[in-house]
This record gives sequence, structure tokens and C-alpha cells, in this order.
Amino acid sequence: MLAMPQAVLLLAVSCAAVLAAGVSGQPVSPAAERTNCPAKCGDVEIHYPFGVGPGCSVDAGFEVTCNETTTPPSLQLGNIIIANITLEKAQMVVYTFLTYSCRVPGSNNTVDTQTNSMELSVSTPFLVSPSDNVFTSVGCNSLAQLVGHSGTYYHTGCITTCASVNETADDGAPCSGHGCCEASIMPGLFLVNVSWSDRAEESDYHVPGNLCQYAFVATKGWYKFRKNDLVGNLTFAKRFGEGTVVPLVLDWSISDGRCPPVPQGVDKANIDPYGACVSTQSYCVNASNSATGYFCNCFEGYTGNPYIKNGCKNINECLNKNMYPCHGGRCHDLEGDYECKCNFGRRDDGNKGCEPVLSKAAVAVIGEALYVCPM
Ligand SMILES: *[C@@H]1O[C@H](CO)[C@@H](O)[C@H](O)[C@H]1NC(C)=O
Ligand SMILES: *[C@@H]1O[C@H](CO)[C@@H](O)[C@H](O)[C@H]1NC(C)=O
Ligand SMILES: *[C@@H]1O[C@H](CO)[C@@H](O)[C@H](O)[C@H]1NC(C)=O
Ligand SMILES: *[C@@H]1O[C@H](CO)[C@@H](O)[C@H](O)[C@H]1NC(C)=O
Ligand SMILES: *[C@@H]1O[C@H](CO)[C@@H](O)[C@H](O)[C@H]1NC(C)=O
Ligand SMILES: *[C@@H]1O[C@H](CO)[C@@H](O)[C@H](O)[C@H]1NC(C)=O
Ligand SMILES: *[C@@H]1O[C@H](CO)[C@@H](O)[C@H](O)[C@H]1NC(C)=O
Repeated sequence: MLAMPQAVLLLAVSCAAVLAAGVSGQPVSPAAERTNCPAKCGDVEIHYPFGVGPGCSVDAGFEVTCNETTTPPSLQLGNIIIANITLEKAQMVVYTFLTYSCRVPGSNNTVDTQTNSMELSVSTPFLVSPSDNVFTSVGCNSLAQLVGHSGTYYHTGCITTCASVNETADDGAPCSGHGCCEASIMPGLFLVNVSWSDRAEESDYHVPGNLCQYAFVATKGWYKFRKNDLVGNLTFAKRFGEGTVVPLVLDWSISDGRCPPVPQGVDKANIDPYGACVSTQSYCVNASNSATGYFCNCFEGYTGNPYIKNGCKNINECLNKNMYPCHGGRCHDLEGDYECKCNFGRRDDGNKGCEPVLSKAAVAVIGEALYVCPM
């Protein structure tokens, strides 16, 4: 009888030990990546291969600047403002201007306009993502055009109609031409210039109540149609504020070369590090979306920065029960994986979970007599 509390205590200690061990193995903070290189600019984290200042980025194409004159400071690629950078998908979100055109009531041809053009230098490792962006125009009887360059000239457009501002699609409806239209963009663009065809300024096409039309290339899902955006003077623009407000996704890649072929029958874990993918537990991914380079990822079960030595760290799956479930068992972290050891009275369900061996009633009876780790 005396032995029982002791056993309970031992179990409690081993539970605590597992919890404490779980704290290590977090992804490295960006500051640890390169000494003397800023890890953040304002709210935006800077991870190698990107860097501010000489020697901080993998090459000149990945050199970014931190503009301290704004509050908070803004990370920039040339004069383009960066919202964030993700290593895993090799993408960067930047902010661009909205293109708009508003009639001035009482005059037939006068318009207030702002056009947006974004140009990345041809030699940069960035391209406008064709899969994550969409060209959109909002207005009545607008004809927005997108002129781009991918090495060759590119031109597409998007037309809207409305009989009246009240007879358009409902709020939240897809942009299929009624007050709002969408067009996919081609891969490989390093320049996009959003403007209007002359038709937009012709009075024949004016719809009473609609003063302004808008167009932009933006992250898919960023814009959701609202009838009210068609009404008033710059209603839509005012909703987002002045300046660069439109998020646009760029794909980036390490430019020089493609990943070597993976020989048949060889596990990718046994292939030597390639190019910029210097971390152990990292591998090379050929860039898609018509980019010619490659980027790097950590193996499954690892996270962090594949572009620095030992940057890919083991994930402690046991700390994230939502993503890595272990129902009815005790979770144990392993290098690059985890296991779920089933509690007494349960067995492996073949999917990292445990199912009861006995009926619920029988488990309840046995459960009374057992102490189970609270995990
Ligand atoms: C920094 O930001 C200020 C304020 O937005 C802007 O006027 C200036 O041109 C920016 N500097 C650079 C180098 O882009
Ligand atoms: C990156 O920025 C965009 C635009 O602000 C935002 O929608 C997106 O959620 C951000 N992504 C991450 C990973 O922070
Ligand atoms: C619309 O708003 C802009 C900016 O606030 C202003 O410059 C312009 O005069 C306004 N136009 C009309 C017709 O009120
Ligand atoms: C606008 O056009 C109409 C018809 O085309 C014309 O009668 C009117 O004088 C014009 N108004 C202005 C301000 O130009
Ligand atoms: C559009 O509908 C709103 C609300 O139903 C109404 O107040 C407005 O007068 C209508 N506008 C036109 C031009 O019919
Ligand atoms: C963008 O297109 C407009 C209209 O075609 C043109 O006036 C403007 O110069 C272009 N901007 C750039 C940077 O090419
Ligand atoms: C990457 O692309 C190259 C050539 O385009 C190909 O030979 C190689 O097998 C690809 N590697 C991987 C890992 O997909």
C-alpha cells in the first residue's frame, strides 16, 4: 500500500521531464543566423539568404534595406516595401499602389488618376507569382489593362459592366464581370503596369452613381467585392488608406542553377547538400512558376533555415497537439519524427493515435485504478 504514492510521484516526475525537454529544439531566432546582421526591420523578420548590409545576404540580389525614416521602419527591396518573407515557400509579399481613375462631376473628360507600375530589375531573383496573385478591376464599365514583361511583352485586360450601381453582383460574389472582374496573370513577369484603356474616360460609358474605378494585381483572396466600393469618391481607396496598400506575392529563387537529379532508389536524405542548401536535413527544390533557379527546404520533421549551417532543427511535435495528434497516448519526440505510445488499455490505431482495446465501460473501471500522464 505504501508503494503506491511513490509510483505516482515517479510518474509525475517523468511527465515533467518530458515537458521540460520539449522547450529545446525551437527554430533558431534570425539574430543567431549571422553575427552583426540585423534580424528584424520594424516588424519584419529578416532571414538569410536575405540580409541588410554587406556580407549579410547570399548575394546582391537578396540584399534588402531598412528604411528607418518611417514608423515603424520598413524593410525595402529597392524602393518596394516588403510585408514579409517566407523561406518555406520561397515567397515575399510586397506592397504596391492601387491604380484608380475617378471622374470629376460636372466635367465630361476630367479625371483624377493614379496608376501603378512595379518594375523589378531583370537580374533580380524575383518574379510576380502567377499562382498566388490575380489581376482585378472594380468599377462600372471599366476596361483595365495590365502590361507586363517576362522577357517578351505581355498585355491583358479585364472588363466590367453594370446597368446601374445597384444591379451588380452581391457582396462577396466572385469577380466575374458585374461590377468587378478578374484575370489570371502569366508566369515569369518581372514588370507589371496597371492602367486604363482610353475607353474608361469616355462619357458614353459612365454609369450614374459610379465615379471611380480601381485596378490592381494583388494576393488572391485579398479583395472581396462590395457594392459600396462602386459608390462615392475613392470609397474603396479610403478603406485601405494612402500609399502602398496592395499586397502582391513575389516568388524568389537562388538563381544559379537547378537541383541535381535525385538518382532512382536513393533516399533524398542521403544526398549531399547542394549549393545554398547548406544545412544538414535540408534539400533542394526546383523553383516552379517559370523561375529558373532553386530554393531550399528542411526535411519533414525539421524546421528553421536551410540556408545556414545546422539551420534545420528537429521539430518537437509533442508541443503541438493540434498538428501532431496523439490521442489516448503519450507523445515522445524523436529526431525528425515522433511516436505515440498508447496508454494501458489502448492500442495503436495505425495513424499516430490510440484506440481502446476494451469497451468503454471496462476502460472506466480500469482507469479508476491508474494514474495517467496529463498529456
Ligand atoms: C524611406 O521612406 C521615406 C518615407 O516613406 C521615403 O520618402 C524615402 O524615399 C525612403 N527611402 C528609400 C531609400 O526608399
Ligand atoms: C504576409 O503579409 C501579408 C500582407 O500583409 C499577409 O496577408 C500575410 O498573412 C503575411 N504572411 C505571413 C506569413 O506573415
Ligand atoms: C475625391 O477625393 C480626392 C482625394 O480626397 C480629392 O482630391 C478630389 O477632389 C475628390 N473628388 C471629388 C469629385 O470630390
Ligand atoms: C459635356 O458633354 C455634353 C454632351 O456631350 C455637353 O452638352 C456639355 O456641354 C459638356 N460639358 C462640359 C462641362 O464640357
Ligand atoms: C440603390 O439602392 C439603395 C438601397 O437600396 C438606394 O438607397 C439607392 O437609392 C439606390 N440607388 C440607385 C441609383 O438606384
Ligand atoms: C504604365 O502604363 C501607362 C499607360 O500605358 C504609361 O503611361 C506609363 O508610362 C507606364 N509606366 C511604366 C513605368 O512603364
Ligand atoms: C531539377 O531540374 C533539373 C533540370 O531541370 C532536373 O534534372 C532535376 O532532376 C530536378 N531536380 C529535382 C530534385 O527535382
